[in-house]
Amino acid sequence: MLPYEKFLAEILIDEVTVQRRVAELGAQISSDYAGVDNLILICILKGGIMFLVDLSRHITVPHEMDFLAVSSYGKGVRESTGKVRIDMDLSATVTDRHVLIVEDIIDSGETLKFVMDVLKARQPASLRLCALLNKPERRKVDIAIEYQGFEIENKFVFGYGLDLDEKYRNLPFVGVVKSDAL
Ligand code: IMP
Ligand code: MG
Repeated sequence: MLPYEKFLAEILIDEVTVQRRVAELGAQISSDYAGVDNLILICILKGGIMFLVDLSRHITVPHEMDFLAVSSYGKGVRESTGKVRIDMDLSATVTDRHVLIVEDIIDSGETLKFVMDVLKARQPASLRLCALLNKPERRKVDIAIEYQGFEIENKFVFGYGLDLDEKYRNLPFVGVVKSDAL
């Protein structure tokens, strides 16, 4: 038995399905941004990392990458507290550039609301969101997701960038955490 298996209730989205959808999103983004010469993908750390790497390989439009680390206050909580802070800011300037945010999951929406507000204030040419997963049941603030991988039920998931107590981000699939492990 592999270490993660004791926490896994079921595989929700298997590796082949994840990769097929990531390729579709990459193709759609490539077509939507065709001809754009100042596209920048902004990965929200840490959860967006696997998605960014795979998605980027399917985007044929030349683009830069940058990284923004944010966290909600209060450790050990599985829910966003609504209070978000920047742990590591971008190194690039986004003013007058086409910005695409790459995030693992939109849950309450509070993290992304904060990120969008911060980036909007820097006056990009455009600002859109690409999220692998969407849990609409738990939404507290309205967020427009232009590119969405999968809509999922209100279950705590891990793998493909999403952590279970900071581990198992490396799994190639999205799995549901066993309720007795939470
Ligand atoms: P929000 O601010 O409530 O939308 O929370 C978004 C953040 O919470 C995500 O970027 C994840 O880091 C984390 N998160 C939300 N749901 C899950 C989950 O099911 N598994 C792992 N992390 C999650
Ligand atoms: Mg995250």
